[in-house]
Amino acid sequence: MMTAPLRSGLLAAARSQTCRNLAEGTPLLRPVVDRFVAGVTTDDVIAAARGITRDRLVTIDHLGEDVTDREHADAVVDAYVTLLARVADEGLAGRVEVSVKLSALGQSLAVDADKIALENARRICAAAAAAGTTVTVDMEDHTTTDRTLETVRDLRVDHPWVGAVLQAMLRRTESDCRDLAGAGSRVRLCKGAYDEPSSVAFRDAADVDGSYVRCLKVLMAGAGLPMVASHDPRLIAIARHLAGAHGRGQQDFELQMLHGVRPQAQQELSADGLAMRVYLPYGTEWYGYFMRRLAERPANLAFFARSLLTRS
Ligand code: FDA
Repeated sequence: MMTAPLRSGLLAAARSQTCRNLAEGTPLLRPVVDRFVAGVTTDDVIAAARGITRDRLVTIDHLGEDVTDREHADAVVDAYVTLLARVADEGLAGRVEVSVKLSALGQSLAVDADKIALENARRICAAAAAAGTTVTVDMEDHTTTDRTLETVRDLRVDHPWVGAVLQAMLRRTESDCRDLAGAGSRVRLCKGAYDEPSSVAFRDAADVDGSYVRCLKVLMAGAGLPMVASHDPRLIAIARHLAGAHGRGQQDFELQMLHGVRPQAQQELSADGLAMRVYLPYGTEWYGYFMRRLAERPANLAFFARSLLTRS
């Protein structure tokens, strides 16, 4: 179990621009990062997706967040449009969707942030529709939750299949699940990867798990598609039980895990007949994503340190 100060320290470092520039500019770190990230280019991620889709589903994330200039945000959209065209050309659209972070699309800009993020997300949704696949909007720290859900609502007017992510650690989430559990909705439920204050979030792991189960009950009883994003064997067992209790078949909800985390469990659950989707990130801007993975598990810190030592 990671101590709270260590976790908070890693998550604070995850938001530091100076640390990010230093880390992303160091080729030495790339092999360590590759456990969680499927390479740099569109070709890299398409090759990885082709392999994984033999037995699982995939959602691809073009890495990047907290973008503060317009050109950069536009470049992220272009990358998604290129990626989605490749997904279609390779015949992968039935098994591969994309995940996007609004802070990479303009939500962190100084002027017209929400308007630009919405326009950019619309371009990606249009490309996904043309490719024959879907988009899920990731959830970032709690200061963005209302704006992100508002953007998802706007996107769903034209593209009702747009998915939302909710974080069980936030006190508000059970109520958000009720709002979003309607027909046609796709809700990815995760624990939450950000360092949140106790005024808005459960800080104790047992309380987060309790909230996760209450949220699962709402989503499984609802009419949408619950996407159970967790590596926690206990929560996965509860999700399977609740799905059965609500008359859902094995394909009427999805289990989702991160690339590089519990890969054997992913394959076993898929072999059991469950819909298992892998979150597959790629790109050069891996720092924030990678730091959150370190903060989730002390063993990853040891793995990181060992890899660095054997390389130096
Ligand atoms: P928990 O952290 O308790 O881990 C349970 C077990 O899983 C651990 O004991 C370990 O065995 C394994 N494990 C978990 N994390 C690991 C890691 N990094 N490395 C190695 N083993 C690990 N968060 C967010 O705030 N916004 C978002 O949009 C998303 N999106 C998202 C999509 C998908 C598909 C997944 C799976 C997760 C996210 N997350 C996220 C991250 C999520 O909030 C959470 O931080 C991680 O999934 C870890 O939580 P678990 O539920 O796995 O439980």
